[in-house]
Amino acid sequence: MKILVTGGLGFIGSHTVVELQKKGFEVVIIDDCSNASENVLKGITAITGITPHFEKIDLKEREKVQSFFKKYKDIAGVIHFAASKAVGESVEKPLLYYENNIGTLVYLLKELSHQQRSCFIFSSSCTVYGQADNMPITEDAPVKPAESPYGNTKQIGEEIIRDTCRVTPNLNAIALRYFNPMGAHPSTEIGELPIGVPQNLVPFITQTGVGLREQLSVFGDDYPTEDGTCIRDYIYVVDLAIAHVKALQRLLKGENTDNYEVFNLGTGKGSSVLEVIESFERVSGQKLNYKIVDRRPGDIVKAYADTTRANEVLGWKSQYTLDQAMKSAWDWERKIRN
Ligand code: WQD
Repeated sequence: MKILVTGGLGFIGSHTVVELQKKGFEVVIIDDCSNASENVLKGITAITGITPHFEKIDLKEREKVQSFFKKYKDIAGVIHFAASKAVGESVEKPLLYYENNIGTLVYLLKELSHQQRSCFIFSSSCTVYGQADNMPITEDAPVKPAESPYGNTKQIGEEIIRDTCRVTPNLNAIALRYFNPMGAHPSTEIGELPIGVPQNLVPFITQTGVGLREQLSVFGDDYPTEDGTCIRDYIYVVDLAIAHVKALQRLLKGENTDNYEVFNLGTGKGSSVLEVIESFERVSGQKLNYKIVDRRPGDIVKAYADTTRANEVLGWKSQYTLDQAMKSAWDWERKIRN
């Protein structure tokens, strides 16, 4: 079966392509390489022995998207990762984010709604919950006003898919709300490649570990948590990739009970920033240079997932511990800096 993975050269996309190929799917990647390199194809090939089809297309160019679907008439499912994802940049350039993340989603859904039956997996985020009132966070927790245009594109994206599914019975979609993805493939052939100074905690830690950054700033230790630092649910990227395959298989087999479904993807366990640093120190055997600084505006205190729905309905559960995920991130960082 042929599966289109948009943004398939990116961090989560590339790991998902590997898991799809392992399950025997034939993968076609669309990526505009704006935030990823064609070299990732080599990494995927090294792991699986198979080079996926690759089309360098910017999804904003609608004619190219139309021609793509004319060329590949037999796409059985689409996993849609392609999107801009820098929270800070989205505040500076909101229209870029709305055009990149919303315009392209609309084009894809238009193409899919012409098909007899289509399956669509959407890359969403736990940011839709904002600071949830109860922990762990279930899928029924209210969606809170977005903190950034980026977060808003995920909320609006979900709404667009939901509204389209309501009037398009042949379209079957699942939105996957990720908590905090981290780590790299155990082979170290693919991993996260942040451009410039990393905004996310784990790549900042590993870059500090190899000496690329002098010091990690821990944003606040006066939060109402046990050690005063914020709590997140760090989920290993390979676990996340496997969940995409399970969600896709659910749709392909017609096992979905609604043509639009939503699942949280996390471990169910919250870790504080200091616990993540301790994990790094354990797996690397070295101390991390960090200092406590002021809170970062917009940060929420805690977010960790209730994963019951994904466990029971998708038959998926995260397998890797924080230390295992951290070890893979550390191995990857050292490999790419050598
Ligand atoms: C994690 C924790 C920081 C950097 C991100 C995305 C969001 C969503 C989920 C995709 C926080 C602290 C960080 C640093 C630090 N993903 N931190 N020093 O904020 O949970 O959200 O993942 O949609 O959109 O932005 O992740 O990795 O930035 O921060 O102390 O240099 O680490 O304050 O508590 P976050 P993060």
